[in-house]
Order: sequence, then C-alpha cells, then structure tokens
Amino acid sequence: MDTFHAYRIFNEGKTVSGRFVEMNLNELDSGEVVIRTAYSSVNFKDALAATGAGKIIRRFPCVGGVDAAGVVESSQDARFQPGDEVVITGYEMGVAHDGGYAEYVRVPAAWVVRLPPGLTMFEAMALGTAGFTAALAIHRLEQNDLKPENGRVLVTGATGGVGSLAIQMLAQLGYRVVALTGKDSEHEYLKSLGANEILPRSAIDASSNRALERAQWAGALDAVGGETLSWLVRSMLQNGAIASFGNTGGAELHISVYPFILRGVRLLGVDSAATLMPLREKIWKRLAGELRPKMLGSVARTVAFSENRLKRRSNIHLDGAGQAALGLPIPASFCACWKRWETVCGLRVAG
Ligand SMILES: NC(=O)c1ccc[n+]([C@@H]2O[C@H](COP(=O)([O-])OP(=O)(O)OC[C@H]3O[C@@H](n4cnc5c(N)ncnc54)[C@H](OP(=O)(O)O)[C@@H]3O)[C@@H](O)[C@H]2O)c1
Repeated sequence: MDTFHAYRIFNEGKTVSGRFVEMNLNELDSGEVVIRTAYSSVNFKDALAATGAGKIIRRFPCVGGVDAAGVVESSQDARFQPGDEVVITGYEMGVAHDGGYAEYVRVPAAWVVRLPPGLTMFEAMALGTAGFTAALAIHRLEQNDLKPENGRVLVTGATGGVGSLAIQMLAQLGYRVVALTGKDSEHEYLKSLGANEILPRSAIDASSNRALERAQWAGALDAVGGETLSWLVRSMLQNGAIASFGNTGGAELHISVYPFILRGVRLLGVDSAATLMPLREKIWKRLAGELRPKMLGSVARTVAFSENRLKRRSNIHLDGAGQAALGLPIPASFCACWKRWETVCGLRVAG
C-alpha cells in the first residue's frame, strides 16, 4: 500500500475539526503491529474528540477512532502473525495515538486482543468500546456479589450505546432490569431489548437533598453521573453495588456517607480504556460467549460513512437526543465501519 484514507482530526487556529486525508504508513504513530482495518465504531468519546467538545485529544493531528477490528498485515511481535483477526479498544487510540478511522492502524502489540472464537470482526465493532464497557461494568458488579436473586438492576442512559447493550446482556444473564431513560418514545424499544420495567427520568427526584431514598436497586450501571448518580447512591438496597462509567448528565457528585455506612453501598469505578490485558481478554471472551447480545446481528446494519454523517452522529451523542434527532429508524447505539474503503465506507448502526 502506498497511501490510504484516514479521518484525521486537526487543531487549526484553535478550532478542532476532522477531515479525510491521504496518509502513508510512515505517518502513523509507531507500534509493532500493523492492522488492515475491517471495522471501527463511533463512541461518545469519538464524538467528543471529533468536535473538540471534550478536549480529550492530547496530540494533534490525530487519526480518530477509539476502536478498530481488522486483520494483522505485519507484526514485529511473535504473538501475532499476518492474517490474525484482532480487536483494539481504548488505550490511547484516537486520543494520543492514531486510531481506527483509517484503512490501516499501527499499534503496540500490548494493545492487541486476538478476536475470540464466536465473534466476528463486525460483531466486535457492533459492540466496540460501548459493549466492552457494559460487559466490564457487569463483571465488576458480579465480582462484588451481584446475582439475579439479589434484586432489580437499574441501567441509566438506557437508550445509549453502553446502556442498551448492558440491558441485553443483563437480561440474558437472568437479571430483572429496570431502564432509566429520558426518552418517552423509546419505552417499547427498551422492552424489546430485555428491560422488564421502564423508569422515566421525569419520575425521579434526583435533586433531592435527602440522605437516603427508598431502597430499590441491588445493582446499577450508571452512564449519567451528576445528580442521577447521587440519587442512585441514596436509593440502593443494602450492600448494593453501582458501576459508574459515564458523565452524560454531569461530572460533579454530591453525596453523604450515609448510604455507605448505613447500607454498605459500593460505588465502583469503570475505566474501559486502561483495562489491563488479562482482564481485557477475559471480558472479550465473555462478550463472545454468554454476554454476546443475541440481537446483535439483527440490530446492526451499514450506512454510508461520511464526514457529515460522523458529525451528525457526534451531535446525537452530545445532545443525548438519539433516535429522534437522527430521523432514521434506529436507536442511539451505532457503529461506524468500513469493509473496503472504496466500496463500503459505512456507518453501521444498530436499528
Ligand atoms: N468509563 C468508560 O470506560 C466509558 C466507556 C464508554 C463510555 N463511557 C461514558 O459513558 C457515557 C455513556 O456512553 P454511551 O456511549 O452510552 O453514550 P450515548 O450512546 O451517547 O448515550 C448516552 C445516553 O445518556 C443519556 N443522557 C444523555 N444526556 C443526558 C443528560 N443530560 N442527563 C441524563 N441522561 C442523559 C441518554 O439516554 P436516555 O435518554 O435513555 O436517558 C443517552 O442516550 C458517556 O459519558 C461516555 O463518555 C465511559
């Protein structure tokens, strides 16, 4: 290959914006493994990066895309051979190291996960960082004694990428799932994913300053943070555990110690990007097994990948509007992918 296409993000005149450019391998960040990208995905973090909204790119210019799945082209590390199917999520991808929005990715071997049997490259990116985070959060809760018989599990940001995949995984594991959502139009969709109950965002008094609320949840996965997370901490059952991974509703957390000292509530942080390799491999194996959403194949499809669509998708992530703003018959969760740049260049969307 001489040159290839990449979606590179620049900071020019204090304005952050991305565009498709031609690159060659020597221009990519260094690493032992060169991968021909089969699919990438678009995550909340990609939206922040591409628009400059989150100030999360630490080095410009940078090829976007925190995720990639593809086939090893060459490797200076004996663990990987040309032809191996692999997946990379997180680390510095798309933030401080050229990421997955390019026909070729070059990364350190230490970041590369061999695609587990039972998962295609397409499916790996239909899951992407969102699915990996959902699985990691569930894994952390289970390590903290969560079991279906303990009680109901609440998922916040339910129509989002992480939330909607978490609902499917929890339902498959036999949990009774409650979906907290701000979208009245999506209740049936959330039930179709496996939610047993819907809790509209308007029905909770997140801003109350009570020390404790009625105890309701054995476990929770929180994409929202802020007042929603502090309400969650106050409304957990005895020994309940919360996996906190997001801040779509706010980054501040105002809580008292009472839920911790009177109910033994556990608040667990989840950082998918920095997950160490042994746990990372274990989570991918679970994603290929009992956590693999049964609806994954049927909820994923491909639409044309373009700068405009990426920007439009970014706006959907950032305003939390999801399906309504998009005007397509799809939920908020989606993936970008291209099989061959020349032919497909597609955004794969869940829908
Ligand atoms: N820690 C990690 O490793 C990790 C990994 C992946 C993602 N994340 C974070 O997790 C969060 C969710 O990611 P995602 O990919 O699921 O994002 P997403 O697809 O954009 O979904 C976010 C969801 O949050 C809800 N929401 C949006 N704005 C809100 C607001 N102002 N108040 C309350 N709820 C709001 C909406 O769901 P409803 O309308 O249904 O309520 C929305 O669909 C983000 O903060 C992301 O940065 C963290």
